[in-house]
Amino acid sequence: EPARKIKISQGAQFRDQRVKVCGWVHRLRSQKGLTFIVLRDGYGYLQCVLSGKLTQTYDALTLTTESTVEIHGHIKALPEGKTAPGGHELVADYWKCIGKAPGGDEAFTNVVAETADPNSLADRRHLVIRGETASAVLKVRSYVLQAFRAEFEALQLTEVTPPCMVQTQVEGGSTLFSFDYYGQPAYLTQSSQLYLETCLPSLGDVFCVQESFRAEKSHTRRHLSEYTHLEAELAFLSFTDLLEHLEQIICGTLERVLANPQAKALLDQLNPDFKFPSRPFRRMDYKEAIAWLNEHQIPNEDGEAHKVGDDIAEAAERKMTDALNVPIFLTGFPREIKSFYMKRIEGDEGFTESVDVLMPGVGEIVGGSMRMSDQAELLAAYKNEGIDAAPYFWYTDQRKYGTCEHGGYGLGVERFLAWLTNRWTVREASLYPRWTGRCTP
Ligand code: 4AD
Ligand code: MG
Repeated sequence: EPARKIKISQGAQFRDQRVKVCGWVHRLRSQKGLTFIVLRDGYGYLQCVLSGKLTQTYDALTLTTESTVEIHGHIKALPEGKTAPGGHELVADYWKCIGKAPGGDEAFTNVVAETADPNSLADRRHLVIRGETASAVLKVRSYVLQAFRAEFEALQLTEVTPPCMVQTQVEGGSTLFSFDYYGQPAYLTQSSQLYLETCLPSLGDVFCVQESFRAEKSHTRRHLSEYTHLEAELAFLSFTDLLEHLEQIICGTLERVLANPQAKALLDQLNPDFKFPSRPFRRMDYKEAIAWLNEHQIPNEDGEAHKVGDDIAEAAERKMTDALNVPIFLTGFPREIKSFYMKRIEGDEGFTESVDVLMPGVGEIVGGSMRMSDQAELLAAYKNEGIDAAPYFWYTDQRKYGTCEHGGYGLGVERFLAWLTNRWTVREASLYPRWTGRCTP
């Protein structure tokens, strides 16, 4: 009977049949003349049992975790009272070692790697991702990105891929990474927003999943130097429409993720207390937030009571979000603390039609706004901000060649995942995180 090569996740379909599996030795244990291998292939975990002569070869006696092996045998349901992933095990009749790992040094195995100190964990990220928790987060990340794309498609947004190498800033000069572009100054993009805006007249509503870069001096658990930015831009809508769209994209995506049994199982493992957000999200005006912070004696960055006009710092924002413990639409930020392109509130021009989505445990995961649609107003905003309008000619042209009311947002994928999977830091939601001083591996 020839063995059929399968992925571990297909195990249940092949009960009592002879199969071949290939993978890495995740765990290893010998007992009463039997060798138990928990095999990992990136699709799941499978207990394999070697007995008799199979356990007495040189390779069997020197086998180590993280070695690669090929195992043939029958998949058998487990006897009553025994447990293993999938409720079955592979009873081996043939196996071979493909690549022997050094073993011995426990610090280099996936199990220990997840509990070591943060710096050496970061140096060994390429091994840490073999661990059960790290790989579960990365799988969920993939399911989440699929679900976002499906939800965007259902909402009729078209995906585009804007450039990462740019000559304009979006979110202030202080966090720009600059580099030499054939003798000209250029930057790594902070946001694809301005490019998305240019797509509206040709493609309709659009979104992108693109890396953004911020030279953040702050060393926090939610700032990366490179992060995955999911951004969308929509035409002919009001600020209220924008908030409703945001609720739908977040909840619609979560529903899709939870409807996927593999994703649901991983989420139950990572975040058993996950609470599906109830709709509508709590809406809170900036001025209300300032009053709330003062009522609860949470000071501003200078240790004083918050004044209208102050930025709400990360610590204060997190305290408020954790206390309210629900998703919040924080709206109507002052013009001075926000970006040049934001539309002002009619009749209250010191404030903007802007929104941050705040999630318990993380704080801001989305920043969005309506955009200035008037050309003269935009030109004045460049001036006010000390921005040279010349390199922005293409952005200004959007107002010249048929303007419209429009708005959009950017969602930090790692922050969304840190919230969803209940991670302490966004670094855990990134394959190879970059932050101040860390660009390896
Ligand atoms: O609030 P931000 O700066 O807004 C923009 O960039 C807009 N131009 C987006 C738009 O309207 N198209 O960034 C948006 C989101 C934040 O809410 C946060 O989730 C994430 O991007 N973000 C970061 N994530 C990780 N590390 C950083 N350094 C981040 N900076 C922003
Ligand atoms: Mg922001």
